Amino acid sequence: MSCTIEEETLMRNSKILIRGGNRLSGSVSISGAKNAALPELAAVVLSDGKFRFTNVPMVEDIRILLRALQNVGAAYDLNGDELDIRLETLSSGLVPREIVETTRASVLLLGPLLARNGYARVSMPGGCPIGDRKINYHIDGLKKMGAAFRFEHEHIIAEANALKGIDYRFPGKTVTGTENLLMAASLAEGTTVLRNCALEPEISDLVELLVSMGADINADDPETLVIEGKSSLNGASHRIIPDRIEMGTFVIAGCLEDNDILIENAAPHFIDSLLDILAAMGCRVQPVGNGMKVLACGDLQPANISTEPFPGFPTDLQAQLTTLLTQAKGTSRVTENIFNNRFQHVLELNKLGAEIQLKGNTAIINGKTSFTGCNLRATDLRASAALVLGGLIANGETIVHNAYQLFRGYENMPEKLQKIGACVKMIDSE
Ligand code: EPU
Repeated sequence: MSCTIEEETLMRNSKILIRGGNRLSGSVSISGAKNAALPELAAVVLSDGKFRFTNVPMVEDIRILLRALQNVGAAYDLNGDELDIRLETLSSGLVPREIVETTRASVLLLGPLLARNGYARVSMPGGCPIGDRKINYHIDGLKKMGAAFRFEHEHIIAEANALKGIDYRFPGKTVTGTENLLMAASLAEGTTVLRNCALEPEISDLVELLVSMGADINADDPETLVIEGKSSLNGASHRIIPDRIEMGTFVIAGCLEDNDILIENAAPHFIDSLLDILAAMGCRVQPVGNGMKVLACGDLQPANISTEPFPGFPTDLQAQLTTLLTQAKGTSRVTENIFNNRFQHVLELNKLGAEIQLKGNTAIINGKTSFTGCNLRATDLRASAALVLGGLIANGETIVHNAYQLFRGYENMPEKLQKIGACVKMIDSE
């Protein structure tokens, strides 16, 4: 199933053309969560059993992780959103750079490879355009469990005779750090207590998978996970939760103009922090079954928001909400507290006609401004979504270059937008 090199090159050079101004109506179905699927596929390494995943989002970051898993010996079969996968015999503990250079998910293999194999050689997660993304808590925790680390030729090499249970308090909230240590602890000797764990729904979904693999995890207090290590774990079947960031992105798309869309296969409670802000801005979003109806909003009110770990407002929706706030009358403020370089969409939105100033880690947005289509460059995954949203309300044509970024994390976004009436299409590069 994996992309050929030619397809990949094409995708890397691809652009998205958006002709703005169409009213959005109809329904859109949310895919499985990329950030749940990534650790859950990494958890396959913990067992020699068979796994079946459903609701798998076919996005680039997942394709890359599947290639990394293949490289360490996994065999898989993918049919639509259903994935059968098994890592019966580990052939290597090596996750090379060529496979993982565009995604940081490689780091999620560190804990599982060490736990199953006692050895992991994982390419250092590449420089990330959204700012410093340290992994010192992952490494500190694994060291305390008994692993020795060295760094050679841009690879992290970790070795351990046996991982031992620990009592570890994360110095700060980390999503993949919590996931990494949780997976390692499930196969470690003895009891592990992980304190100050991140609370994102993707972690609860990973706990659910690990428990169905036979892991002994007490998550009564999800901030303090207690894990009794097992000597082996089995395969499992698991349905991946809906992607809350894709959900939020489409809700924001619905609020941009006089739209009327139904968002299906969603889990609205995952985005309560966004829904509260939208309600205060005057948007009309109503729960309907396992989804939401987004109706024409009228005049939008400005808002002040700050990104926080879950259940606070997610950094992964900051760029998209910034696009919406350019359409509110008055001054809004958006403060980014998680990553130190996650405002690259601001320059691009200003090219469209936004009036946004940056002061430290706060963007000050003066609205409402009208947009005129132009050429834009996607710098990272969520920024690219913010630019596509900008294109939807711009007069004329917007071209988003470096569209590969979008496909790292959004499944079929152009097609989904077309289905609800947007004029969006991929264009080939020269
Ligand atoms: N941090 C440390 N030390 C660590 C780990 C993290 O100082 O060992 C700091 C980071 O530098 C950052 C903050 O803690 O300032 C939060 O980082 P975290 O580890 O939580 O981020 P992550 O696990 O690398 C995941 C998502 C990101 C999402 C963040 C925050 C996955 C695969 N990635 O990253 O998703 O932005 O949590 O919610 O789950 C995206 O999907 O677009 C994306 C970037």
